[in-house]
Amino acid sequence: MDKILVHGGRRLRGNVKISGSKNSALPILAATLLTKEPCTISRVPDLSDIHYMLTILSELGCEVERASGTVQIRAEKITTQAPYDIVRKMRASVCILGPLLGREHEATVSLPGGCVIGDRPIDLHLRGFESLGAAVKVSGGNVKVLAPKLTGATISLRSTFGSTVLGTGNVMMAAVLADGTTVIDGAAEEPEVVDLANFLIAMGAKIEGAGTRTITIEGVKELHGAEHEVIPDRIEAGTFLVAGAISGDEVTLHRVNPEHLQAVISPLREAGFHIESNGSKVSIAPGTKRRPLKLDTIPYPGFPTDMQAQMCALLANTDGISVVSEHVFPNRFMHVAELKRMGANIDLQGATAVITGVTQLSGAPVMASDLRASAALVLAGLQADGITEVNRVYHIDRGYESIDEKLNELGAEIERVKA
Ligand code: EPU
Repeated sequence: MDKILVHGGRRLRGNVKISGSKNSALPILAATLLTKEPCTISRVPDLSDIHYMLTILSELGCEVERASGTVQIRAEKITTQAPYDIVRKMRASVCILGPLLGREHEATVSLPGGCVIGDRPIDLHLRGFESLGAAVKVSGGNVKVLAPKLTGATISLRSTFGSTVLGTGNVMMAAVLADGTTVIDGAAEEPEVVDLANFLIAMGAKIEGAGTRTITIEGVKELHGAEHEVIPDRIEAGTFLVAGAISGDEVTLHRVNPEHLQAVISPLREAGFHIESNGSKVSIAPGTKRRPLKLDTIPYPGFPTDMQAQMCALLANTDGISVVSEHVFPNRFMHVAELKRMGANIDLQGATAVITGVTQLSGAPVMASDLRASAALVLAGLQADGITEVNRVYHIDRGYESIDEKLNELGAEIERVKA
């Protein structure tokens, strides 16, 4: 298994181009199943999760062509049963259920298991499909959804932890071809949901309210092919902002949407950093003093759970006491034990991390447990003394396009050791 060696203490300076959003691209690629006509999706990041999704689409019968960041997909003749050995590798494969149900009125996918960031049920997705008239059957580790006819309905997707991002996308994709009007109440407001809705609208769907808590979908008879460019990855951008904060003179991010980054920019400003945005650029530079923070992860437009681990890495090395509470995935703290191996002083109290900043972290061999945790360990390594060896880096390759190369271009010294 590849590992990454981070030589700590290098200053970062310069420019970095942010890739297209993984979490937008995945459901958008799945949405191409809704039409027999060809679709062209650009700014698709080169990531292993994207590769899994394209493999699933090919296995379902789609013609898939990929040239650099552009993918052409034609789902002319498709089957409705996704192969287990690929589906099990990526939870987001669950988002093929909605489009298959919408177009073919049936779909079978193996049930996603738990994952290291906690129990990740799909009850809300299934409840949404049932409201549209589908029968849901779980057996042999598979979930089968079947509906002779889909009929518009009012559906609530609220849960104890907020709404569901992929669930909102899934129900939206099933409802675009249903008879009549569907109202999704308690919809996720994330920019990735808006991006998916915009692609569906380009395909001929009638959707209003994406980006708010209530989405209204008027079913149409069929959708047609469309072209779409995926939005910038706000979590990759946030991660590079934290990299700049940790060890930067001045780092400028290009091709971002600053509006999507406000929930990360505000706390970084509060922590003492200077951040300026201009069009699709955002720059971060150090201030006079770093300050500790109180952070709570909340669904968009709140501070994102996908940036919690990276902020913990910054705060571990920030004088004073910071308090970080996780409200979306209460068990998403696997990085804490690894940061402690690097000398961080973190007391985990349930879903809250109390971080007492230390003056210096020290490099150590650490284990990546999930995508964002592995990014946090690389960030911690940038500010640590000596070498940090991050093992199991396949996690990072699931969601960051060439993170080592991009950081090295900014002045970091990161080596990838091939197994
Ligand atoms: N939930 C339920 N029932 C459901 C679905 C979700 O109780 O049927 C709960 C979850 O257990 C969780 C909360 O609702 O506590 C939010 O989960 P959500 O469904 O919104 O997560 P997701 O759609 O499966 C996406 C991203 C995640 C990101 C979350 C939250 C993709 C492919 N994944 O997951 O991204 O953390 O939204 O913003 O879009 C990552 O990129 O590292 C990542 C994990």
